[in-house]
Amino acid sequence: MNSRIFLSPPWMGGDERKLVEAAFNSNYVAPCGPMVDQFEKDFAASLKRPDACALSSCTAALDLLCHELNIQKGDTVFCSDLTFVASIAPAVQRGATPVFIDSDKATWNMNPDLLAEALEDAKRKNQLPKVVIAVDLYGQCCDYDRLETLCAAVDVPLIIDSAEALGATYQQRPAGDAGWASVYSFNGNKIITTSGGGMLSSQDRALVERARKRSQQAREKHIWYEHAELGYNYRMSNILAAIGVGQLQILPEIIRRKQQIFKGYQNKLAGVPGLSFMPEAAYGKATRWLTVITLDSDTRVPAAVATPSQQVCALMAALERENIESRPVWKPMHLQPVFQKAKVYGGAVSEHTFFSGLCLPSGAGLALSDIERVCYSVLRECE
Ligand SMILES: Cc1ncc(COP(=O)(O)O)c(C=O)c1O
Repeated sequence: MNSRIFLSPPWMGGDERKLVEAAFNSNYVAPCGPMVDQFEKDFAASLKRPDACALSSCTAALDLLCHELNIQKGDTVFCSDLTFVASIAPAVQRGATPVFIDSDKATWNMNPDLLAEALEDAKRKNQLPKVVIAVDLYGQCCDYDRLETLCAAVDVPLIIDSAEALGATYQQRPAGDAGWASVYSFNGNKIITTSGGGMLSSQDRALVERARKRSQQAREKHIWYEHAELGYNYRMSNILAAIGVGQLQILPEIIRRKQQIFKGYQNKLAGVPGLSFMPEAAYGKATRWLTVITLDSDTRVPAAVATPSQQVCALMAALERENIESRPVWKPMHLQPVFQKAKVYGGAVSEHTFFSGLCLPSGAGLALSDIERVCYSVLRECE
């Protein structure tokens, strides 16, 4: 049996182990310590932002932002439709009503025209959302300028969920350098990993400072335990931050490799009937965190999409037989049973992308021979 090709496994550069050892040697085997400070400092600098707060996950970062906004029952929250559920779950857990905004066909990210329509409707009804959460999908920034202008016009904060897009750019700006605050994920399959972890960043230094405090049970600055408000246990540990410091150093190399992998797929799969790649917007540079293809057979997208197309499922099964992991594109939020009653603006683009899309193995350590193995199966199945 061939060895397994995973979708997006971690790729370590070498210094991570030494840094973890240094953290051990310092005996800061704790949720605070010099590696956390270092990781935050390096990360904020890479974003050209004044501060960043290292957390146990990106979901925790989103939850802290929901806390800051006092999101509660009766509030609405606008969110990208084509995303992972964690983008919206913290707001809904707090009682908010989600409204989903479909993707732009040209970027797969939140469609600014639909956001404009949704905000216009909300303004007319005097029901503006508490926040807009826009997702940088699969390593590509959304249209920051347009989204920022729309949100600023109605004074609604904008969160950029950049969990999947660290290292991408929008007109020379780093991913997430937009809106009120941005969040990042370092779980095992992300572009850099700390095995699990996240970051919250903002131009607003005081906001980051409040989040940091709340991530540590909101302890006041006294020598005794004093709490003027309630917080959480969301801080990143010093050991995991050590991995993050090392991973951040090799981010440019990881991105270079991911983009090479994408080019490798493009070269080998060009010309396969009906096969396309996720489009890249002219306004920035995508990392190709994952290489994502769509397969458009003759089959029409059914009125009620519930699963990926037969063609996608067949290709996934064929890859699996060869011990190759692949994943469908995120199932749109408006199709999720848990959001059955939620309003969606548009929906056809995300449905089509889910129906026809497939994420191919994209780990930074993927060898040329691995890409060939994947392409061999894709060609055999699709040609
Ligand atoms: C768009 C998006 N938002 C949020 C998350 C949640 O990140 P975490 O697993 O670090 O909580 C993920 C991935 O897991 C994601 O892809």
